[in-house]
Amino acid sequence: PEQKVEVKAKIKKLLKEQDAVLVAHYYVSQELQELAEETGGYVSDSLDMARFGNEHPAKTLIVAGVRFMGETAKILTPDKRVLMPTLEAECSLDLGCPIDEFNEFCDKHPDHTVVVYANTSAEVKARADYVVTSGIALDLVSWLADQGKKILWAPDRHLGTYIQRATQVEMVRWQGACIVHDEFKSKALAELIEQNPDAGVLVHPESPTDIIALADYVGSTSQIIKAAQTLPNKKFIVATDKGIFYKMKKAAPDKEFIEAPTNGAGATCKSCAHCPWMAMNGLDNLLSVLENGGNEVFVDEDVRVKALRSTQRMLDFAE
Ligand code: 13P
Ligand code: SF4
Repeated sequence: PEQKVEVKAKIKKLLKEQDAVLVAHYYVSQELQELAEETGGYVSDSLDMARFGNEHPAKTLIVAGVRFMGETAKILTPDKRVLMPTLEAECSLDLGCPIDEFNEFCDKHPDHTVVVYANTSAEVKARADYVVTSGIALDLVSWLADQGKKILWAPDRHLGTYIQRATQVEMVRWQGACIVHDEFKSKALAELIEQNPDAGVLVHPESPTDIIALADYVGSTSQIIKAAQTLPNKKFIVATDKGIFYKMKKAAPDKEFIEAPTNGAGATCKSCAHCPWMAMNGLDNLLSVLENGGNEVFVDEDVRVKALRSTQRMLDFAE
């Protein structure tokens, strides 16, 4: 613990010296989330991380999360230095949607408006008409549907199905999934709900359709934290990465939270509701990046300019 205190103190000093601000996602460790809070940084969902980085005057953004979050920051603010504790932190949705195959898919549906989830590469964003996060996906697609648009959705199939059912829009979907949310099990969840009939069920929309069907509230990480505060239930079952519990408990300290089950039907979980890539962010690699200036995020300028169009539309819509 003494060593940790020392590492934290060094990080705080270097952040100040380098005019750097730490932006973290709810799924990274509590230590990193606390450090972001203590140093004038920010902890939030992927939409608000993008907004915060876009508006903050610091010269350097340190993005504690996964690669697409660092790339989104660089797309929006190319003049800032964007660093990450690790450049190895991927996302199964991004990995599962390579640009060449995605281009082919888009070419097959030229009359569709291309809407992609932020959990994608800069190249995929460059091909898209709109970027969305889980916080605004439903609203933005509803708005396009009202204009009579047909939608090409990528890459998360569960979020796509959820939106299609809610809006009845004509939609073709990429078949990607988040390895973390894909593991929630509906049979075990239904049993848990039966044992806790007073509990509200909060679900992130990357979860499978049969999990979403059991939800009382579906939303982005920030939105489900808010729901935990505002819904009248005293107890909640939560289907998302367990990193969220630090902030959720802080936001609603008088409430009880239960993790949604990932190991139904005797299967053993691979990620056990914690993203292995988010977990690669730590105090040590954060310090090392500040000391050595490594792990800078770069996006090819041609790609960035195209990706900015669809990503800026996300921010404009979210206002
Ligand atoms: P949020 O935008 O809800 O934070 O989701 C990002 C993510 O990667 C969830 O797995
Ligand atoms: Fe990607 Fe899932 Fe990890 Fe979020 S939790 S970064 S969607 S793999």
